[in-house]
Amino acid sequence: MSKIPKHVSIIMDGNGRWARGRGLERLAGHKAGVESVRAATEFAAENGIGYLSLFAFSEENWNRPQSEISGLMELMIDAIINERTTLMDNNVRFRAVGDMSRLSKTLVDKISDIEASTSLNGGLVLIIFLSYSGRWDIINAVNKYIEKLRGSVASMDQPVTAECLENLLSTAGIPDPDLLIRTSGEQRISNYMLWQCAYTEFYFTDVLWPDFRKNDFKRALDTYADRERRYGKTGDQINKIN
Ligand code: FPP
Repeated sequence: MSKIPKHVSIIMDGNGRWARGRGLERLAGHKAGVESVRAATEFAAENGIGYLSLFAFSEENWNRPQSEISGLMELMIDAIINERTTLMDNNVRFRAVGDMSRLSKTLVDKISDIEASTSLNGGLVLIIFLSYSGRWDIINAVNKYIEKLRGSVASMDQPVTAECLENLLSTAGIPDPDLLIRTSGEQRISNYMLWQCAYTEFYFTDVLWPDFRKNDFKRALDTYADRERRYGKTGDQINKIN
């Protein structure tokens, strides 16, 4: 496959509709979605993608019924416990990004544990976005910047640069996504990586997340390979570079 993106991100959507279509509880859709997480992770590792990030729980998802929230959190804890060996065997490094202060201690402990155990793995980096929103991320970075200035002798009239803000985002050190996939036919960014997606290519598919398999992932990569990324330049300028 040509032009493999370095970082692919996925907004996993449609679990509820998948379940409703089968007369099941919404949680059954999330459970089925874990199998798609496994398939996507395998596909990313097999195809030399450096970073795979998954939007698993947004800041706005805290407004869902309590039973669904606790079910989802349980599912995350179980997935971390059950997938540990597979992650280790496949040299995958696990990272979580988001507002950890809102998660349960049990989940935070499991996350810290798996992040530490996989920290030296040099293969695919799997990043789970939990309790995350793009606006939260930017506001958080600005607050960290103000805090930093308070503790330093640098004067307040130093201009803020993109680089200094980027280093304070929760994704610092992670390259911006090259490709963002959203399943289930919805075509919006839903307060996901707002800063980081400035030049990301978007791919939307009607496939519901629990049905998303390796062939669907491959289709997205094939579409990406045909795109011309211009970053504001003209097509001629880009062709001269390539
Ligand atoms: C969106 O579907 C999906 C979510 C909010 C949760 C995604 C979580 C998982 C797949 C669970 C496992 C994750 C990991 C990383 C182990 P929706 O509920 O919004 O679906 P709908 O739009 O059809 O209602």
